Amino acid sequence: MTTVLVLQGPNLNLLGTREPEIYGYDTLDEVHKGIAARAKELGLGVAFFQSNHEGALIDRLHQRDFDVAIVNAAGLTHTSVSLRDALLAVQRPFIEVHLSDPSRREAFRQVNYLHDIALESIVGMGARGYLLALESIARRYGGARA
Ligand code: DQA
Repeated sequence: MTTVLVLQGPNLNLLGTREPEIYGYDTLDEVHKGIAARAKELGLGVAFFQSNHEGALIDRLHQRDFDVAIVNAAGLTHTSVSLRDALLAVQRPFIEVHLSDPSRREAFRQVNYLHDIALESIVGMGARGYLLALESIARRYGGARA
């Protein structure tokens, strides 16, 4: 079975109350429940990790216990060479997801250290972006495999 790690960066633990007009009213827990349900339908294994700490996200990637990642690096998208390096180092493909579309926001969000190394980027679709990422992974790598 293809195993997907959903990696969530800083401040995403506050989803639901954090600028909901931009990021939506669903909590991270609710978003993760929706992802888990869709993963089950698609025959994908799924694990979740959120941290507000760059090093913790990098340490989680270093475990290499997944086949593909879905990464919302949040603010670290625009700042972190180290997270980029970690994603390259572990040699696992990943899909970048953002709830909002950073390219249509402030100038500092136009810098993106992950976009060019991602399989694809799904932005501005809200929490549905994670489900679209899962579906793309199922198409690319198959769901349940013996
Ligand atoms: C975000 C966009 C980032 O620019 C921002 O720093 C976030 C959330 C999104 O999902 O839209 O924290 O990654």
